Amino acid sequence: MPTNEERAARLDAMRAESMLGGGQERIDQQHERGKLTARERLELLLDAGSFVEFDAFVTNRNPDAETAFLGDGVVTGHGKIDGRLVFVFSQDFTVFGGSLSEAYAEKICKVMDLAMKVGAPIIGLNDSGGARIQEGVVSLGGYADIFLRNTLASGVVPQVSLVMGPCAGGAVYSPAITDFTIMVEGTSYMFVTGPNVVKAVTHEDVDAETLGGATTHTTRSGVAHIAARDEAEALGFARRILGHLPQNNLGDAPRGPTSDPIDRQDVALDRIVPDDPSKPYDMHDVIELVVDDGAFLEIQPGWAPNILTGFARLGGRSVGIVAQQPAVLAGSLDIDASTKAARFVRTCDCFNVPLITLVDVPGFMPGVGQEHGGIIRHGAKLLYAYCEATVPKLTVITRKAYGGAYDVMSSKHVRGDINLAWPTAEIAVMGAEGAVNILHRDTIAAAADPTAERARLVADYEERFANPYAAAARGYVDDVIRPSETRPRLIGGLEMLADKRDTNPPKKHGNIPL
Ligand code: HXC
Repeated sequence: MPTNEERAARLDAMRAESMLGGGQERIDQQHERGKLTARERLELLLDAGSFVEFDAFVTNRNPDAETAFLGDGVVTGHGKIDGRLVFVFSQDFTVFGGSLSEAYAEKICKVMDLAMKVGAPIIGLNDSGGARIQEGVVSLGGYADIFLRNTLASGVVPQVSLVMGPCAGGAVYSPAITDFTIMVEGTSYMFVTGPNVVKAVTHEDVDAETLGGATTHTTRSGVAHIAARDEAEALGFARRILGHLPQNNLGDAPRGPTSDPIDRQDVALDRIVPDDPSKPYDMHDVIELVVDDGAFLEIQPGWAPNILTGFARLGGRSVGIVAQQPAVLAGSLDIDASTKAARFVRTCDCFNVPLITLVDVPGFMPGVGQEHGGIIRHGAKLLYAYCEATVPKLTVITRKAYGGAYDVMSSKHVRGDINLAWPTAEIAVMGAEGAVNILHRDTIAAAADPTAERARLVADYEERFANPYAAAARGYVDDVIRPSETRPRLIGGLEMLADKRDTNPPKKHGNIPL
């Protein structure tokens, strides 16, 4: 029988072996590709010394001397981020290219199940060649086991995916179900089928970066939320996002300290909307002048930039911001903007993060492309998301709120709790030019000086409709405020709404248009 010392030495040796994954040579190759190892990533992601590993001694189902890698290609366990519990899995490309086996999938499912039991976020670090070819159908089954857990955990615990290498085939669908996907520029790819298959099937020549790199997915497809310059930045984004979210759907996001005065009124806001209503301004400036310390963590900045989504704090409370960007497409709501904002509204709603909506929208985007692309179906997503949301909803109309877009953007009618307008607000069925052309076409045509007549009618319309007071007279906006009052009014509103309780009718689930 071995002695205690010999047994301890065996444990140490096995631990040391498991730390090496696929071996030093493959670790060196990983570094040469500009990538960190699965364990190095966890060190950067988690608070120092907080990682507790599970299943380091798991091997694949039928190991032989060639294939028995301890851990079987994925490092799993739990740790802390800013002192808060998180569960993690980190795929190890040095073992069979990080490909997913039966045992590997079971390791991931184990931490996902535990995360659900204790109500803590799940962070997946993806770097994998997909299903392990040698394992056949059990590998496909393993993926499906993960997809099911992703889906059941959706809206219960936050799920963040980092794509830090190839992510091919069905492997892309786990990140796709999670709440946030962060990609690393230059070293990460996501595609259902790679360039070779694309070439064979559609005869298109495309490289991996163009087909599914970080830029593609954060500017064209909208599949990923953030493109990070390197792995350290990507991991930092994951930490920052979780700092704005609760541990689970039954909790509240942590309240951060701020030295930014609650009653700060920045007079620069009073000059931000140009006198000429057709001139743009940058809504980032508005957000940064209002929120704590000017800090805005923008989500999906590169995709559908005509609408801004992201997290900030007001008086230390985490808020989700949805805001039109008048500097891009005049802030109109097109298909991508509607989908982007709808998803963000639902993310905030399921995790109890109050919504701040800043409105400057001329309407839904007209055009054959938009209509044929389904702007009705996609615009309905945003409408549905706002109607359904029960978190505190605070709305500020900075300038235009025209047509259906007025209704959609967290109006009083869709259960907006606090609806404020700046004096520059224009709340009406449509803009003056369009309205006058429809209502007074004959009068203008018959006038001795049609141009002067149109100008007179436009001025008259603007006087009557292009202001916030008709809406205020009905109580559709609760107050008209100076722009510089926005910060204290929103913080006061959040405080008043802190214990808000609102519910939707009991149902299995709604049927959001998809
Ligand atoms: C087993 C794999 C593997 C896989 C890579 N490897 N992918 N082993 N199953 N799926 C191994 C390689 O054989 C190699 O081992 C090592 O990992 C590193 O791979 P390389 O090809 O040398 O690396 P690189 O050139 O960087 O290319 C990485 C790659 C490429 C782009 C991921 O390996 C690749 O295209 N792999 C296959 C991708 C794929 O089609 N997967 C199946 C998708 S279908 P050695 O020992 O030679 O170094 C799928 C179904 C999911 O995932 C279904 C869910 C519904």
